Amino acid sequence: MNNPPHIAIIMDGNGRWAQARGKARAVGHQKGADNIRTILKHCRHIGIKHITLYAFSTENWDRPKLEVQFLMKLLEKYLKLELDVYIQNDIRFATIGDLSVFSDTIQQLIQTTKDQTAHCSGMTQTLALNYGAKDEMIRAIKQIKDRQNITEKEFEKLLDTKQLPPVDMLVRTGGECRVSNFLLWQIAYAEIYFCGTLWPEFSPSELDIMIEKFTQTKRRYGGL
Ligand code: IPE
Ligand code: IPE
Ligand code: MG
Repeated sequence: MNNPPHIAIIMDGNGRWAQARGKARAVGHQKGADNIRTILKHCRHIGIKHITLYAFSTENWDRPKLEVQFLMKLLEKYLKLELDVYIQNDIRFATIGDLSVFSDTIQQLIQTTKDQTAHCSGMTQTLALNYGAKDEMIRAIKQIKDRQNITEKEFEKLLDTKQLPPVDMLVRTGGECRVSNFLLWQIAYAEIYFCGTLWPEFSPSELDIMIEKFTQTKRRYGGL
């Protein structure tokens, strides 16, 4: 089998990475944000078409106010800095999640990044921001016009991921074996890889090993 067209990653372990080094959790978040670029460029290089990254969940608002504030500032900085990287690498930027809660500044930056990378066709990078699969499904259900006759295909068109193919490979770094409300519908037949490496240290070579396993896996989809 070929490389997975769509890889989704739960980038977990930033805080623990920093704490293990006697540093503030914020340092781990910064390092984690920096690692996105490394992994992104690698995925683009090896011909992955879609990468979807869990950056901030609907539950992450429950963290201490200072951490949430730092993450919002980091998102702002990230969007400003990465625009050139996206354009240079022919990467289109997209998001999933309910953006309406973000500040005007962040919402505008997101829109600018989407507009300025709309022509890029090498790979699509989707950032999950204020994303929760349950929230996504409830928002979709509210849009259903004919509930009695709705098909799976029609329901998928109401999800935030309507422009994306199904997830082929789901990776979670940081050692926890759970999906934490990420893409519950879309991972129905994804191959799932959990690893102990904390996100700031997750490397292209580790991803390559997972992809190699993926290419050797027979996906049966319930058949034989
Ligand atoms: C993931 O790292 C990043 C976000 C959820 C924003 P964590 O912040 O969850 O790091 P750990 O899991 O506490 O180490
Ligand atoms: C999942 O990580 C969310 C992101 C990586 C953005 P969490 O750290 O929030 O998940 P839990 O709380 O360990 O399940
Ligand atoms: Mg975590």
